Amino acid sequence: MSDRIHTLSGYLYEYQKSVTQPEEFWARIADSFHWRKRWSKVLKWNFDEPDIQWFVDAKLNITENIFERHLFTIGDRPAIIWEANDPNEEGRTLTYRELFHEVNRFANALKSKGIGKGDKVIIYMPMVPESAIAMLACARIGAIHSVVFAGFSSSALADRVIDCEAKAILTSDGNFRGSKKIAVKAVVDEALEKSSVETVIVYERTKQDVTMKEGRDHWWHDVIAEEADLCPAEEMDSEDMLFILYTSGSTGKPKGVVHTTGGYMVYSQYSFDNVFQYSEGDVYWCTADVGWITGHSYIVYGPLLAGATTLMFEGVPTFPDAGRFWAVVEKHKVNVFYTAPTAIRALQAYGTEPINNYDLSSLKVLGSVGEPINEEAWHWYHTHIGKNKCPIVDTWWQTETGGIMVSPIAGITPTKPAYATLPLPGVQLCIVDPEGKELTGNSVEGNLCIKFPWPSMIRTTYGDHERCKQTYFSTYKGMYFTGDGVKRDHDGYYRILGRVDDVINVSGHRLGTAEVENAINEHPKVIESAVVGYPHEVKGQGIYAYVICDLTNRTEANLVNEIKEMVSQIIGPIAKPDKIQLVSGLPKTRSGKIMRRILRKVAEGSFDSMGDTSTLLDPDVVTKIIEGKK
Ligand code: WT7
Repeated sequence: MSDRIHTLSGYLYEYQKSVTQPEEFWARIADSFHWRKRWSKVLKWNFDEPDIQWFVDAKLNITENIFERHLFTIGDRPAIIWEANDPNEEGRTLTYRELFHEVNRFANALKSKGIGKGDKVIIYMPMVPESAIAMLACARIGAIHSVVFAGFSSSALADRVIDCEAKAILTSDGNFRGSKKIAVKAVVDEALEKSSVETVIVYERTKQDVTMKEGRDHWWHDVIAEEADLCPAEEMDSEDMLFILYTSGSTGKPKGVVHTTGGYMVYSQYSFDNVFQYSEGDVYWCTADVGWITGHSYIVYGPLLAGATTLMFEGVPTFPDAGRFWAVVEKHKVNVFYTAPTAIRALQAYGTEPINNYDLSSLKVLGSVGEPINEEAWHWYHTHIGKNKCPIVDTWWQTETGGIMVSPIAGITPTKPAYATLPLPGVQLCIVDPEGKELTGNSVEGNLCIKFPWPSMIRTTYGDHERCKQTYFSTYKGMYFTGDGVKRDHDGYYRILGRVDDVINVSGHRLGTAEVENAINEHPKVIESAVVGYPHEVKGQGIYAYVICDLTNRTEANLVNEIKEMVSQIIGPIAKPDKIQLVSGLPKTRSGKIMRRILRKVAEGSFDSMGDTSTLLDPDVVTKIIEGKK
């Protein structure tokens, strides 16, 4: 590939080009894609509105760039290798040609159910190839997919169905996860009780009992039975919506991050190709779920646009035992392996024995994503998985950025443990102090912003453009604010320090403190609550909830369990608080604002350094909370 960076000086050259002549730079990258009509202008932008348009007026279909663009050369190459939850169940491999026909067949099925361009389709499915087929079939006909992680509860699903005005839901009967069989369709039924969704298509996976609503619910195998395996691709504008993906913010309900077609396509392939240095014939495995942005950009779109072989795993790292990841690496001779620090730390706890049984010599590149990777985990990954010969790419990015922003180029950028290192071409970082003043030079620390558009950036938050403007473009004028703190060291290398807003990152999953508080407050005995993150050995951050309760007719232990259950039901098991401390009051300022800084200190167990507490309404509250914790 001509757009491939091969050397460090090549990276520096490309980076310079991308800053001094961004439009020429991206036009050159975009040239290798198939456009039905070329753009009239590469970029129009305004960060105040915000209004961002890439490849203006261009027409294309992203699936034509996966399939038709190179079907004649790579039709027989494996596109998706699927590994089932149970190692004894036979996996599946779909070549590009087979995947093409399955996508087309399902696209026709969607059309015959009256789904077309601009319609929103929720995908709530396990990690089976059909979830990728579903996404691509939507893209084929111009429908907008919104994948919801299948671990989310019915009420979280219902919120998303309503917010995006979904016309259809694609789901499964159940889901295999480790030793568990999880009901999926039943969750959908509950979520749809009060909705007007017209069509539900159910993929049969676990063969468990489900109820099918006459006229609304259909089996996947029935709807495709009579369909042709060719479906013309809908012509899309470069700025037409490709998908909506919900993510948590510091306030209110999760917001629908909108990504559009042309820019997302160009950036997801470009970043995939360069960061992982994928070469033909390699087997690439990203362990994320398609319900997160990592799954969108680096299980489905990026690798498939690049013509790569992407492995999809249905199960969990510890089933049937803690050697499962390494068994899969050996079995499929995985060359590029991309996972999250939380998984590394969880497996680290089992020692090296589960690794030693397997041949990991196929591995060439290791990746990390989702949260800061601590030095210890980095070294363990490097030594025991990479056998000191595989570069680690620590990739920093976000749902909103659509693709990797800061990362080493595998084997090219010298790495440093716990550092995401340097920005990719096209990414203009800026570190600011709390007043928004740019901190120039090296050895500085502050808030991370991006001052120039990149092709896969967020365009809006669905149905609420003002929220997009407020959240990302108003804190610092003329810049996109990431919500992360960062350090640029003496070498100019970037180290991400974690969120500086009220977002917590639990096992690489983003949750808003307000969102968890709202769920806790649903419990009839709860009067008020405050949630903070605290350092957790495996999860990165754990959830610590301070709750004021009415204790009449209840024991503390019962209440704590009921509250945990409540959160699990309202959001999903990932949001279940690790610790709940019942308190009689919360530290508030005279204006009634909860001082989370103090609650964070107490949660992490540092009782001596409370900082300035002079604005507290009642300093006694803090003493009581500390006593309660000890
Ligand atoms: C937040 C975004 C897009 C990846 C999956 C998570 C944190 C992500 C790193 C990293 C340090 C990281 C940031 C970011 N984060 N990758 N390599 N090093 N922190 O996507 O759910 O949108 O969360 O995850 O805090 O803001 P997300």
